[in-house]
Amino acid sequence: MASTLFDCISKIAETIIANKDYLTELDRAIGDADHGINMARGYTEVLQQLPQEEQDIGAVLKKTGMVLLSKVGGASGPLYGTAYMKAAKAAAGKTSLTTQDGCEILQAVIAGIQLRGKAQRGEKTMLDAIIPACEAYCAAVKAGQDFSGCLDAMCAAAREGTDYTASIRATKGRASYLGDRSIGHVDPGAASSLLTMEAVRDFYREQMQ
Ligand SMILES: Nc1ncnc2c1ncn2[C@@H]1O[C@H](COP(=O)(O)OP(=O)(O)OP(=O)(O)O)[C@@H](O)[C@H]1O
Ligand SMILES: [Mg+2]
Repeated sequence: MASTLFDCISKIAETIIANKDYLTELDRAIGDADHGINMARGYTEVLQQLPQEEQDIGAVLKKTGMVLLSKVGGASGPLYGTAYMKAAKAAAGKTSLTTQDGCEILQAVIAGIQLRGKAQRGEKTMLDAIIPACEAYCAAVKAGQDFSGCLDAMCAAAREGTDYTASIRATKGRASYLGDRSIGHVDPGAASSLLTMEAVRDFYREQMQ
């Protein structure tokens, strides 16, 4: 299972790296044009440092978090780094995950991002993608859907949340300096979170084929 997770994180890394310019362009509109550069730098290092043979899911997630924390920089490095570290704690000692574990991991991710960044939903950040995604995923688990259905629900909500960021004003991070001028632009962190979740879904779909 952890080697599957290794492949899954590799898929996330490749997706983020492939979207480096897209994420940077989003950040050019409302930030400092570095989000794609920051994230691609971090995930390039993740690809190099991730231990393929590690079996403990928590250990793989922790290593990912530590690398992102040390390599990404900016606001998003500590936020994504903490997200993976909290996910690691929720998955510590496990070599396989249930759909319910996925819900707990997403909740831990949100708690970590909020502990670090003190943002709430509606402030035009990555949380506007991740919080609704988590709610939709956990609701799908409760409704008895299989992992594939839960991931689809998660990604649909994450996309809606990411699109929604274009309609609101930023009140956290660098984009908040723009005030109302941030309206009309998608938040780069929400976009990278959506790409992360879609990469997980796509990875799982490929595994099922
Ligand atoms: N307090 C916060 N809580 C959650 N997400 C945040 C917060 N502040 C910023 N973000 C997210 O981080 C993204 C910006 O990441 P980026 O890598 O561009 O860092 P940055 O803001 O340029 O950092 P710096 O200003 O230190 O260079 C935003 O799009 C937003 O989603
Ligand atoms: Mg930036």
